[in-house]
Amino acid sequence: MRNIRLGVNIDHVATLRNARGGTHPDPMRAVKMVADAGADGVTIHLREDRRHIRDQDAETIIKHSILPVNLEMAANVEMVNIACSLRPNAVCIVPENRTEVTTEGGLLVAGQEKKLTPFIQQLKDNNIRVSLFIDPRDNEIEAAGNVGADIVEFHTGGYCDASLLNRDKKLDDLIAAAKRADKLGIEVHAGHGLSFDNVAPVSAIAEIKELNIGHFIIGEAVFSGLENVIKEMNHIIREASK
Ligand code: PXP
Repeated sequence: MRNIRLGVNIDHVATLRNARGGTHPDPMRAVKMVADAGADGVTIHLREDRRHIRDQDAETIIKHSILPVNLEMAANVEMVNIACSLRPNAVCIVPENRTEVTTEGGLLVAGQEKKLTPFIQQLKDNNIRVSLFIDPRDNEIEAAGNVGADIVEFHTGGYCDASLLNRDKKLDDLIAAAKRADKLGIEVHAGHGLSFDNVAPVSAIAEIKELNIGHFIIGEAVFSGLENVIKEMNHIIREASK
């Protein structure tokens, strides 16, 4: 049986922590839970504005995680230098726009080969696997091969956000893109917007080796965990006020 890997993106544990400016909830505690729960990897995104994961989080997580860490980041000198000093298992290069709420589309590799190739080489020279987060389009897959990417991660936002009428077409695009990348010898990952409702058809694409899922897992965890936390809090309060 084929075992597709699950990478869990824990950025939004840090988003919640940062909302109060304290230390709770601790992203490193989430990393341990991700491992205990049977996931295969941890993904963190060190954004230019550090709105969720911060430098100290990245350092601690990469140093202490028992799971492989996939570091998402923009392609620039600062980030490539940070990655080369922290040495995560993989780096996923994503487009970054300061004002966006999340990564809205794939990286434009075609046309940026000259800029990306030296960054990718520097990362690979430091034994870091390099993934490019791209839309499932032929020209981007070819360009990813040309710049030496080990992996492409297909942005599944177009599929997840499509109306029911359009969803089959978007899934077909993902299937065709996965086959094309696989033929070129590039490992295929996918992610963005995946949830209980839409993950199954993507998981069934034979060439996809890994899915990276964040927002839905962290959001849904609130509902899975809320009851237990309320019961525990109530228990402590009742015991103390007897
Ligand atoms: N993969 C990449 C490269 C991402 O940037 C993100 C976050 O945008 C994800 C996967 C996870 O997406 P989501 O949080 O929607 O599950």
